[in-house]
Amino acid sequence: MRKIVIAGNWKMNKSVAESVKLAADVVAAAKGIKNVVVAIAPTYLALAKVADVVKGSNVKLAAQDVHWENQGAFTGKVSADMLKDIGVDMVIIGHSEQRSYFGETDETVNKKIKKVLSLDMGPIVCIGETLEERKAGKLESVLTTQVNGAYAGLSADDALRTVVAYEPVWAIGTGVTASDAEAQEAHALVRGLLAKLFGDDVAQSISIQYGGSMKPENAAGLLAQKDIDGGLIGGAALKADSFLGIVTPGE
Ligand code: G3P
Repeated sequence: MRKIVIAGNWKMNKSVAESVKLAADVVAAAKGIKNVVVAIAPTYLALAKVADVVKGSNVKLAAQDVHWENQGAFTGKVSADMLKDIGVDMVIIGHSEQRSYFGETDETVNKKIKKVLSLDMGPIVCIGETLEERKAGKLESVLTTQVNGAYAGLSADDALRTVVAYEPVWAIGTGVTASDAEAQEAHALVRGLLAKLFGDDVAQSISIQYGGSMKPENAAGLLAQKDIDGGLIGGAALKADSFLGIVTPGE
């Protein structure tokens, strides 16, 4: 049975004190939730203090990125060992903002995934097409390249320890959410790509989150789709009530 995974990607928002407060609000609101994996991803600066807040709770701690080298002359970077050392559980890898602004490639995504898995943390593997690519009919080819690049050289057991986040770039931060049908179509395509790589049983066991203007108002419809197993949430994750309104839609 696939897990439903709802993660809040706080991006470059919140001071350390504000992050600690939001984390405490999420922990309090998520108490008693058992059938959903809830995770929050503060900035690097807030990770260690937020780790103390979520410790012992049912809320997982995620980082927004990572470097694949252990240590050395990589100015501004943070290693997987450093994240593991402070109690990070999951790592967002290959976010479209990393790909478009900071030179992330399918090759670096693959390196990061392998490093994160080697330290028993869970990669959240981000993929998604731009509006231009979708309009040009390149949805399948773009997702195929991204999935094959990210999962190159991984075993089925490795793949089972990952979560995929399908985030259509044109829906991120725009308020323009993919329709339930558009999202389901893309998710089914991604699951088919995973099946080609690892077989149907493994593909059916990997959670695929949707990301891109997911809100309490649209969460129930998206989460009702056969191949949507949660969400990677940006703006709506910056307040505990809207974030939990996605975790438990309709409650
Ligand atoms: O990683 C999640 C993020 O890209 C989605 O952002 O603000 O559209 O929910 P948002």
